Amino acid sequence: MTLAPAQRTVSTAWTDARLILALEEVVETELDRHLKAAKEWMPHEYVPWSQGRDFDGVMGGDPWAVEQSKVTPLGRISLVVNLLTEDNLPSYHHEIATMFGREGAWGTWVHRWTAEEGRHGIAIRDYLLATRAVDPVALERARMDHMSAGFESDNAHSMLHSVAYVAFQELATRISHRNTGHYSGDPLCEQLLAKIANDENLHMVFYRNLLRAALEIAPDLAMQAIRDVVVEFRMPGHGMPGFERSAAQIAIGGIYNLRIHHDDVLQPVLRHLRVLELTGLGPAGLQAQQELGLFMDGLNAQAVKFDERQAALLARRAAVAGRKAG
Ligand SMILES: [Fe+2]
Ligand SMILES: [Fe+2]
Repeated sequence: MTLAPAQRTVSTAWTDARLILALEEVVETELDRHLKAAKEWMPHEYVPWSQGRDFDGVMGGDPWAVEQSKVTPLGRISLVVNLLTEDNLPSYHHEIATMFGREGAWGTWVHRWTAEEGRHGIAIRDYLLATRAVDPVALERARMDHMSAGFESDNAHSMLHSVAYVAFQELATRISHRNTGHYSGDPLCEQLLAKIANDENLHMVFYRNLLRAALEIAPDLAMQAIRDVVVEFRMPGHGMPGFERSAAQIAIGGIYNLRIHHDDVLQPVLRHLRVLELTGLGPAGLQAQQELGLFMDGLNAQAVKFDERQAALLARRAAVAGRKAG
């Protein structure tokens, strides 16, 4: 029997279910590589427990006061954003378990990833409370607010969009933890966040390699997904209380801003996968590739303007500080 052209199109079209099946072998390989690369580490070893003491309330200890914190004001803002983002893990688990499934190699990855991410929230919270780095009451209220709101992925409609998003997002999280540690003012905090950033990097590598395989088997669809995700990218913590205000401080402080987003997050993944040089695309893939290239140029131009504004603001701050000191 000869299939009518319309039927043939339907039978060979990629669906999420077919893509998940087609990528299962790659997931197996990447999972294997990940498990070999990921060294076990103990969150409790990174927390200076000897600095801890009772709080007020049930234990009758001292209430928290900002003078007790050894972390910089910028570090406090960013640590809270990073921790609340990690705290929303149940919602992320739900999103990826629903998308990728809980069976086979995909399921093993989903559960392993969740276990590793769980360690991040535990370690950061233990550090913050033992060292009295941030207000524990405000932190708990923000956690309740943020988790009660839940998190819904912008990309739940498409498997390829989901893979593309997490490839960039894991790298964004890595950079954000690393830079937060760098600006925290506490070497112990920097050490802990560097350890967490290392986990995030391995997550990025897993998804980036998966995205490479997707570009090989479904180049036009994967290219369109990458374009959409890059153009509409926003951090998973965007819904948390006071996010815009915190994000502005984090940007000016040099932890995460347009320049960093362009240079340290988007470009490395796009370059590694040679996304903008990929050949053999169909019309839709080619159009997506061109639009992605234009978007990246525009983003770079925006980042140049941001750099100038940031430099001017920091110079003004330095001048004010100098006048106060003099
Ligand atoms: Fe994490
Ligand atoms: Fe991660």
